[in-house]
Amino acid sequence: MQANHPFQNDEGHAGQSIHNLVYCSRGAADMDEAEIAKIIATAQRHNPKFGITGLLVFGSGYFFQWLEGPRDNVQSLMKIISADPRHDSVVVLSQEDEIRERLFPDWAMELVEAEDIRVVLEDAVEDARDPKQKKALALMLKELNAG
Ligand SMILES: Cc1cc2nc3c(=O)[nH]c(=O)nc-3n(C[C@H](O)[C@H](O)[C@H](O)COP(=O)(O)O)c2cc1C
Repeated sequence: MQANHPFQNDEGHAGQSIHNLVYCSRGAADMDEAEIAKIIATAQRHNPKFGITGLLVFGSGYFFQWLEGPRDNVQSLMKIISADPRHDSVVVLSQEDEIRERLFPDWAMELVEAEDIRVVLEDAVEDARDPKQKKALALMLKELNAG
């Protein structure tokens, strides 16, 4: 990432709500474990600087990613990610401002393999107190089950 990268690290300002964005996309045909490990390493290197946490799911050739953090930072990152040739058909499933508490406060970017993700998502749907969180997670689960 360049020094003039359009992020601002405004995490922690009073009154700032946490923005969260969930999208799915189709991985490039040559996507493999090594490439995914590179993506995760990049994310884990960059995201903490910008107050971004989240979850990346890869399974059956598709990505699901949950990004949460200051709105400007999440949107700047999403622009960068959308332009990444390692995936296409990026569809934003939900994007909201109102969540005050992070779902994944300790994960700079956690990779979840598809065989685990149903259980993780089912648990997260169960645990979600905010109906909007529940809805976004249930949507991810539905997309995943649809194959
Ligand atoms: C599915 C997917 C998810 C990604 N997630 C992140 C992310 O959470 N954080 C990040 O910095 N880059 C992420 N990237 C990588 C960015 O698109 C981009 O390559 C990277 O930010 C550029 O960093 P660099 O200039 O240090 O190489 C992701 C890429 C893909 C394909």
